[in-house]
Amino acid sequence: MSGEEDPIQRALSGFSLYTLGDGLRQGTSIAVVGKELERYEVGPATVVIANDGGVGRYVAVEPSLTEREKERLSRLLDHLFMSISPEDAADPSKRLIPNMVEAARSLGFLEEVTRSLQKYEYYVKRELKGYGRLDVLMNDFNIEDIKCTGHGRPVVVLHKNHSELGWIRTNVVFPTEEDAQETTQKMLQRCGTMATNAMPIVDARTPTNDRVAVRWSTDVSMTGTAFTIRKFPAEPMPITALVMLNTVSPLMVAYLWLMLEARGFALIVGPTGSGKTTFMNTLASLINPNAAVCTIEDNPELRLSHDVWDQLTSRHSYSIGQSGLEITLQDLVKHSLRLTPDFVIVGEVRGEEVAALINSAASGHGALTSLHSDSVQNVMIRMSAPPMLVPTGNMMLIWAFVVMNRVRREHGRVVRRVLSITELDPRKGGFDLKEMFTYNMVDDTFSPAAPEELVRMKTERLQQVMRLFGWDEKQLETELGERASYIEMMVANKLLTLSEVGEAVRKFYIRKYGLAG
Ligand SMILES: Nc1ncnc2c1ncn2[C@@H]1O[C@H](COP(=O)(O)OP(=O)(O)O)[C@@H](O)[C@H]1O
Ligand SMILES: [Mg+2]
Repeated sequence: MSGEEDPIQRALSGFSLYTLGDGLRQGTSIAVVGKELERYEVGPATVVIANDGGVGRYVAVEPSLTEREKERLSRLLDHLFMSISPEDAADPSKRLIPNMVEAARSLGFLEEVTRSLQKYEYYVKRELKGYGRLDVLMNDFNIEDIKCTGHGRPVVVLHKNHSELGWIRTNVVFPTEEDAQETTQKMLQRCGTMATNAMPIVDARTPTNDRVAVRWSTDVSMTGTAFTIRKFPAEPMPITALVMLNTVSPLMVAYLWLMLEARGFALIVGPTGSGKTTFMNTLASLINPNAAVCTIEDNPELRLSHDVWDQLTSRHSYSIGQSGLEITLQDLVKHSLRLTPDFVIVGEVRGEEVAALINSAASGHGALTSLHSDSVQNVMIRMSAPPMLVPTGNMMLIWAFVVMNRVRREHGRVVRRVLSITELDPRKGGFDLKEMFTYNMVDDTFSPAAPEELVRMKTERLQQVMRLFGWDEKQLETELGERASYIEMMVANKLLTLSEVGEAVRKFYIRKYGLAG
């Protein structure tokens, strides 16, 4: 197909300032190249996903504007921008529409605006409150990551339902460096910060917790202003979703659940985007709702429903030379000991804080954290070297490593799997690493699948659990089976929201212990 006939190419080359969908809408139908895979609405916009000979296409079609309407909109925006009052500037969404109507009246085209009010409303909101040209992508819950590698190139996205397509080309393009800068600066404004030539690298968070990493202009980026956005899921996935997606088996969850209840220490290992934080959140949601939980993070991502929840976040220095004002994860881990927590969860450990956390676990609370790595062996190597420097004796306080990763399955589909759970088994004069669960790539299953097989391994951690609760092997097997069945029941009953799962977990504890923490 030649570039001339390709409606996406046409849309890419002929972008107007305010619409994405120009040239794509033909009457009420949308012309798309390739095989259409999915079509849905994001607010008033329509999104079409297509496979164009192995290249993923994401076409966002926004309400279309005539040339005259574009001109009107441009003047409206200028007027609104100039006349914005200090109160409205603090929260531009307030009075946005009354102000727009007022602006249209003073500019003398109120009637025209009233006739297409919804369209104007959409674009005024998009520009003054939203993310401009990125608005559809930012509002599309199916998108996990957004990446712009420079102007003149399509913005690309990772899509939840189409992982097999990898980075999907969207019809959002910034024709010039100025366009890229305008939208980037708008986005950073929403994050309460800005990029400058003096500070060309910016890491920021939107009000809805999406992570934004910006490279400003050409000093540090050969292709000019560029950015990557890691979107924060609207609602974290509950444990039932992870089981349904076959990320982990009910028995594995039961095992980790029991370990946590016995105040063990589990470390989740995996590369970025492998699902560590998500899995940690689901495990945390199985903790007794009456327990005191303390979370420690650089950026608040964990979402718990516990009432007794100390949610701590680190503080970065405001400017160079003020490092004395920093409060690090390590400081917070040390501080957490005085909060008498039942559980301490550190979002992600990178340095000295891991030694502090392991050390603090000796005082008897349960602990959960994640670490960026790809295997247990590499974790062991990193932990014994600076900056972590965990003494070998303290290593023993870790109960289990959970290794996660993305795995490519049939038709190139990318899924997340717990590849292994390994126990750190203390022995005289050292420790063994004992693989408790493994993932079988061939048939996409996990083994062992039965509680008795697990119990038969007779590891030190399982013995510890039995001693703590006063169980024999039979009882341990029953407990594991009961928890695995409970998770299966939640899946069977399609409890797919966090609150439904939370309620079911609460019932579990009431039935079991009468809910005492
Ligand atoms: N088991 C899973 N199956 C499918 N998608 C997942 C799964 N776990 C996480 N995700 C999605 O993957 C993205 C990255 O997950 P996250 O937990 O933040 O990874 P990490 O902490 O390892 O960087 C999120 O958008 C999340 O919704
Ligand atoms: Mg994470």
